[in-house]
Amino acid sequence: MPVSPHPLVCAPSILGGHHDNLAGSLERVRASGTSWVHLDIMDGHFVPNLSFGPQTVAALRPLDRDLFFDVHLMLTRPDHYWEAFAKAGADEIIIHVEPFYPIRKTLDAIREHGLRCGLALNPGTPFARALPFLPHIDLLLCMTVQPGFGGQSFREEVLGKIDEAHQHRLDHDLGYRIEVDGGIDRTTAPRCTAAGADTLVAGTAFFHDPDPAAFRTALTREP
Ligand code: DX5
Ligand code: ZN
Repeated sequence: MPVSPHPLVCAPSILGGHHDNLAGSLERVRASGTSWVHLDIMDGHFVPNLSFGPQTVAALRPLDRDLFFDVHLMLTRPDHYWEAFAKAGADEIIIHVEPFYPIRKTLDAIREHGLRCGLALNPGTPFARALPFLPHIDLLLCMTVQPGFGGQSFREEVLGKIDEAHQHRLDHDLGYRIEVDGGIDRTTAPRCTAAGADTLVAGTAFFHDPDPAAFRTALTREP
């Protein structure tokens, strides 16, 4: 029995792939049968790590024009950089609520550019911080680890926030997707979808699984 009004989607995070062969990792994403790929962008300031930039996204884009490029900006000033990722081929751009910058203006600009926009909350950030923006986003990302690195343990205290976000969208007839990201695997995914999540980012678990197609099927099985 579905909980979310949206079909469940698995979005493999290419950060968990092979950085000496991202094209090969993208091929594995495609072979799994999923329609989304999650691209983690890190500035070494908002998060204590660096990943890759718009040039890498632009290099991957022509390899598969059908995959939905879900770009997660873990940047202190996403308002300065979102357009470079839009030009590189992003289909959706997710920005964080925590840094100080014109959030609503940035969300609106992303949408005016013809892309979907998302807002991300770190595990310690209360759902209430997202309230002013919910009518203006396509996706709410409830981080289930502290952003910056793949391979961390799932933070189960976020399940309450997922439930709160799901209940809010029902109560207010809002259409945002609820994405979870960090420590998502065959065990933690059903706990998130039962709480209302519908977009499941997996890096480590996806790229370590011997059968990516079976992994996708397992994650997107209705709760
Ligand atoms: C963490 C990133 C996640 C990460 C995936 O900052 O946002 O997308 O790459 O995490 P794991 O490897 O736990 O699935
Ligand atoms: Zn991410």
